[in-house]
Amino acid sequence: MFRSLEWRTNSIKVEDAEEGRVLIKEFDVVKPTLIFTLYNIACFVDNLLNLSIVKTEDYYFPSLRERVENEVKAREILSGLGVKCPKIHWRKENVICMEYIDGKTVLELYRDGSLEEVYDVSKRIGFEVRKVHEAGYAFVDCRAENYIMRDNGEIYRLDLEFFTKKTRFRSLCDIVTYDVSILGLSEDKCMTAIRGFHDGYGRKLSKTELAYISLFSSIYPLSLKEGVDEIANRASNALTLLKESIKDLNLLKLLKSLTSKMEE
Ligand SMILES: Nc1ncnc2c1ncn2[C@@H]1O[C@H](COP(=O)(O)OP(=O)(O)O)[C@@H](O)[C@H]1O
Ligand SMILES: [Mg+2]
Repeated sequence: MFRSLEWRTNSIKVEDAEEGRVLIKEFDVVKPTLIFTLYNIACFVDNLLNLSIVKTEDYYFPSLRERVENEVKAREILSGLGVKCPKIHWRKENVICMEYIDGKTVLELYRDGSLEEVYDVSKRIGFEVRKVHEAGYAFVDCRAENYIMRDNGEIYRLDLEFFTKKTRFRSLCDIVTYDVSILGLSEDKCMTAIRGFHDGYGRKLSKTELAYISLFSSIYPLSLKEGVDEIANRASNALTLLKESIKDLNLLKLLKSLTSKMEE
């Protein structure tokens, strides 16, 4: 019964063709409607919280045609930045046939790998995301399952249908979706991955990002992708993150009050 409730996703087929093994992705219409309803609600809340800056540029609802075009355009931009993506063999209105990458998604790698591997891979991804933001673009959906690693250690970025021009809110979405997507891991893996990602990205989580992570981690189980253990990890990891940031904030306050006392 639960299966029929599962969010509809794009259809993915793997085939052996003349070009070698290929992956055929057929774009679905229902999935982005659900995702972007959430995204645009978050945008609305974000705009409400920042009433001094009235802006509409964050709202985003790419059509099916635009999503396929985003996949193509993103590859041109990302290859210029040294980010690897599977090559496209052919495309139709709502279908893309691309090179199949043999490997593990980064989420699987986090589950199976050692803490050193988790840290290294996360740092590389964080650094790459920072490069993309600095070039003026954002992925919007930056979950760990959208990265795949080959046995030779090369990391490929998949799922570029929402790739677009960066705004402050959209780059925040990259950080929030990445962190939320790994909260279901065991605590040591999750915290190591978050530390690695932010070391690579070059800064810690902001308070606003933390607030969005708490909000989205509470609705993430609705995707019905996770088992009981992952949902339990998610709740306790979100709490650990909150506690750690409160600790940082108190430390900061303490330092500030000490330095102001010294100045007196
Ligand atoms: N080129 C590829 N090679 C190997 N696996 C892929 C490739 N593209 C997608 N996948 C697998 O299919 C999953 C879904 O593909 P993705 O493009 O992320 O679609 P969706 O929008 O449904 O998330 C990925 O998480 C990955 O496991
Ligand atoms: Mg995906």
